[in-house]
Amino acid sequence: MDIKQKIRHDFNRAAKDYSRHAQIQRNIAKDLVALSLPYLGGNILDVGCGTGFIAEQISNQNNRLIQLDSAEIMCQQAQKHAPVICADMHAMPFVPASFDGVISSMAFQWSDAINQLIAESKRMVKKGGYLMLALPVDGTLSVVGNALNNLTPDHIRIRNFNSDKFIDKLMINNDLKVISKKIDLIYEPFASLLELLKSFRQVGAQNKSDSDVIPLTRREIQWMESQYNLKNEKGDFLLDWHIAFYIAEAM
Ligand SMILES: C[S@@+](CC[C@H](N)C(=O)[O-])C[C@H]1O[C@@H](n2cnc3c(N)ncnc32)[C@H](O)[C@@H]1O
Repeated sequence: MDIKQKIRHDFNRAAKDYSRHAQIQRNIAKDLVALSLPYLGGNILDVGCGTGFIAEQISNQNNRLIQLDSAEIMCQQAQKHAPVICADMHAMPFVPASFDGVISSMAFQWSDAINQLIAESKRMVKKGGYLMLALPVDGTLSVVGNALNNLTPDHIRIRNFNSDKFIDKLMINNDLKVISKKIDLIYEPFASLLELLKSFRQVGAQNKSDSDVIPLTRREIQWMESQYNLKNEKGDFLLDWHIAFYIAEAM
């Protein structure tokens, strides 16, 4: 299985219960829609739509929304809210410049060719239209990542996230003028470290590159718990998400 097939496979497996588990993703989609409201008129494309968190909020507004995702079971869920095309976001099956806006929440980080993906998204947007993005950037999941790195190299690894500076450059290179950008630090609480680690699988976010990673033993999890230093007053284990929100205009 290549990386794209593995990503599709994992999101298909997570699709049925995704909406129930993906609370952080739901909140981020809401925040992105709130920021994007002035730019959501006309034909809008939601890239990497998942089960349709964006469509849930904007499909009744004054626009025509099309959704796109590569995982068939995500597409089945999303079509309850608005039409869906099941396709790879790096090669979108639409006439160039057919959309007034492209919106995407928590999907671009799955690309192994993000420059191509930003270029492809820009190609879909009319001149003067908008690209509206929310994606995790570097610093995300750093605490659990460091804790895992202190174990043997055969265990799961947290992937690296692009920096916002790098995304800024890709925007410029693709003739996209950033008109608003912010980075929010969001903490997601879990009652135990085991719950926190399980959450990756529940939202389809597993390690995509190492096919034969060794599962953590109970002792290793206990050791990690004792080292984990990002907790709230209740003692919950926190995941740290650094989410960049962009609104960019196609030049
Ligand atoms: C974390 S989910 C986010 C879904 C939704 N936007 C949300 O906010 O809940 C990432 C989505 O991107 C999709 N995805 C990943 N790689 C893709 C690709 N190459 N082409 C199309 N969709 C892709 C996955 O299938 C998954 O539904």
